[in-house]
Formats: sequence, structure tokens, C-alpha cells
Amino acid sequence: MTEPEPPSVAALSLADTATHPASKAHEQEINPWDVQAAVDEQGNVLAFDYEAISQKWNTKLIDDALLERFERVTGHKPHRWLRRRLFFSHRDLELILDTYERGEDFLLYTGRGPSSDSMHIGHTIPFEFTKWLQDVFDMPLVIMMTDDEKFLFKEKLKQPEVYQFARDNAKDIISIGFDVKKTFIYIDSEFFTSGYNRHFNLNSTEFEKLITNNQVRGAFGFHGSTNIGSNAFAAKQCVAAFASSYPFIWGQDCKTYNRSANLAAIPCIIPCAIDQDPYFRLVRENCLRMDQPSPKPALIHSKFLTALQGAGGKMSASNPNSAIFMSDTEKQVKNKINKHAFSGGQETLELHKELGGNPDIDVAYQYLTYFEDDDEKLTKFADEYRKGIMMTGDMKKECIAMMTGYVKRFQEARANVTDEVLEEFTRPRRLEWKGNQNPTKPKLEKADDKKLEVGGHKVAVGEDGKPLTKNQQKKLAKLAEIERKKKEKEASKQ
Ligand code: TRP
Repeated sequence: MTEPEPPSVAALSLADTATHPASKAHEQEINPWDVQAAVDEQGNVLAFDYEAISQKWNTKLIDDALLERFERVTGHKPHRWLRRRLFFSHRDLELILDTYERGEDFLLYTGRGPSSDSMHIGHTIPFEFTKWLQDVFDMPLVIMMTDDEKFLFKEKLKQPEVYQFARDNAKDIISIGFDVKKTFIYIDSEFFTSGYNRHFNLNSTEFEKLITNNQVRGAFGFHGSTNIGSNAFAAKQCVAAFASSYPFIWGQDCKTYNRSANLAAIPCIIPCAIDQDPYFRLVRENCLRMDQPSPKPALIHSKFLTALQGAGGKMSASNPNSAIFMSDTEKQVKNKINKHAFSGGQETLELHKELGGNPDIDVAYQYLTYFEDDDEKLTKFADEYRKGIMMTGDMKKECIAMMTGYVKRFQEARANVTDEVLEEFTRPRRLEWKGNQNPTKPKLEKADDKKLEVGGHKVAVGEDGKPLTKNQQKKLAKLAEIERKKKEKEASKQ
């Protein structure tokens, strides 16, 4: 690809809950329940160090070579959020591309913890990206709405309240344009009592048995006084990545007791913010130990979005001026950007003309990098801003036009999402997708062991994409067990 230098996406916390005393210096904290940027001695909140987190957690950074392969394999130019590294890291994305090249199915899986009724752009962007992946790959998608999780983790929330949030948020998510034929959205409290969840349930009970208290403590920082529902929930978010949890999607019987080994063998890819990675490390470390092993789910990780206040700000449902909400009026969007978007421009017009501005910290420019697809146009804006030819007001004007358009299109779509539409998306049913119609690689050869190869899918593949033999599988399971014991030991020392 010969493209201009991708505009950078500066990023900051969107955690609703993070609070920290500004006076105390501390390192960045990233886990599923607490996302805080680092603070220096002077109390300045610093930008997240994404390379550091990728290194610490041993994920792979998305690079140009991978994106070139993505384009070759899918025939689609990588989404601007890939080009600009808003989605910046991954695990095993190559294996998903291999699967696609062979014309085999995989499952797309993402989710949302419904902690408030108002979604903002920080919430919609991961779903926009997931929809794009669904369009590009033409694969089935499940979206998990974890009202149970939010109830368990948020002291103040009551069950009926989170359930209502889940319904409202699901309607917002539908408005992004998912294809109902290929998408199953479920609200945990509904699905887990529907009778269609038998295999999900069996998977989660089996997975719960594989994981010890020490392991979840190590992974999530749980302690003796953490409620027991939190432990159990971790297993649910994990087994939601197993295709065998949703036999109805493939038109298979979900009322029988036996789970399907061929469904268990279907790979999965999970687009999510980087803070969700600890859940999925847990599933990656233990999925091969399941009686019907599933391959390690692939991941594609996003950064956090910049709040209107820029560095140090947080997009928060409790601060309407911190973010652009999908329910904002045109006037609100305009006012928020004009009044609250942190500017990288100079104090006065004269100074700006003389010294130029800094687009990298300019929130209006950052938001344009999220939504303006034209790389050249963005580079031109950044250039002219730096040179003091483009003023802060001009940048904000561009941003307002872009954002009001986005919010308006969303609201028009949202108006059509009735209760009936929601019912259809949340109904357990067979989905319809085409996948890759022109595979360029042969399907994998059958392994000797029937358990390894069912319905054209490999239960587990090695680094080289070749199926594992029974012995290799056993070895892997053993290694996983050793690894688990080691982790357990470490965790118990903490
Ligand atoms: N735990 C996530 C949250 O609080 C919700 C979630 C469930 C999720 N499954 C997921 C997010 C898969 C990303 C991918 O928002």
C-alpha cells in the first residue's frame, strides 16, 4: 500500500469509573474494571502507553505487513481504524486470515456491559468496526449484552435497571446497521433462561471447573471479599467465544444433551478494547483443556478514545460534556465541540498564524481522524494546522460537520429500531452467511484422529497452521496444565 503517513490517533481513558487523586504520581492501570492513565509527579495525566501494554501482555502490534496481507486476502482496503492504528494490536489475526483463505467459517464475537442508558461515540466505535468486519468477511456474529456482569460488579445497580440498559443499548447497537440474518444479540439474563442456552451452560460449567479461585484472582485482582458471581461470570464471558455455545446458529439441535465437537472446532475472533484482554487470555490458556477443545480465540484490540477534554479527560456517562452522546441534538454536538473540545491551537489568532497549532493534541482533529476516511485530506488538515494556515475555528467547523452528520444518521436509524426489531435480533435462530466464496487455499487435510477434525474444521492448529496430532494435543494440554499451576502458584503468592 502506498499511502500517506497515517494520522495518529491520540487516545485517552474512557473508563466511567476511574478516579485518581491528581496529586499522586502513578503508572497506568488497565484491566477490565479499571482504566487509568499514568499521572506524573506534577499531577499531569499522561497519554496511555499502548506499546508498553502490548509488550507487558505479549500481544502483537498490527503492522503494515499484516495489513497488506489483510487486503490481499479479503480484497478490502483496511478500515481507517486499522490504517491509523485505533485498532493497534492483535492475537492470532493471521490464523483467522488463514481460515478465511481456506473458505472455512469462523465466529465473530463482541459484547457490551450495559452500565448506562446513554451510549457515546466511545461505545459505538467498536461496534462500527465489528460491523465492518462482518461486512468484509460475511461471517456470523454474536453480541453479548452482559447485564449480569454489570449487576455483579456495580454495587449500586439493580437488576431491572441493568436489564433496561441492556435493551436500550442493544437497540443503539442495532442502529449501527448489523445485518439481522448474520447477527445474534443476546442479553445474558434473557438468553440464560431461554432454554436455548443448554450448551452454553454446559460449556460454562465445564470451564468453571477448569479455573481455580487463584487463577481468576491472578487474572482479575479478585480477592476474598469479591462476590462469587464475579468469579463465575468470568467463565461466561470466556465460553461465549465457543461456537458450540450457540448450536442454533448452525441450525443444530440445542435441546439435546451432547454438545457438538465440530462446532467447538470453529475458530473465533473478538474485536475489543485492550482492557478486555485478561478475560480472553484466560480462555486462550484453557480452551484446549475442554473435553471438546476449541481453538484459541483470535483478538483484535482497540485503544481508548479521546474525551472532549483531551489529555486527562474521561468520556463518562455522568459528565455530558466529556463526550458526544448518540442522543445529543445537533446544537448540543456543536456547542460541545466549540466549548469543550480541547484545542491544540494558540491563544490568539496572531500567535496561531505565527507559531501554528498542534493537531496531535487537538481533539477536533483527533475526532476527524476517527471519521474522515480520506487520508490525504487529513494529512492536509494537520499540515495546514501546524503551519498556522488552518485555524482552530476551521478545524472545529470540519469536526462539527462530521460529528453532527454521524449522530444524525445514527438517530435516523435508531428511530426505526422498534421492540419487534430487537426481538428478532435476540431470538435464538439459525443465521445465514456466505463467508469466503472464493477460497484460495485448500481445506486442511484430515487428521488421523476424528476428534481433531470434524466438519472441515481443525480443533487446534499449530503455529504452521497444520492440525495437531493426538500426541501434540496431549502435550499441549499438559503444558497448559503446568502453565496453569505456575500461574496459580504466582497468584497465591500475591
Ligand atoms: N465485559 C465487557 C464490558 O464490560 C462486555 C463484553 C462481554 C465484551 N463479552 C465481550 C466486550 C466481548 C468485548 C468483547 O463492556
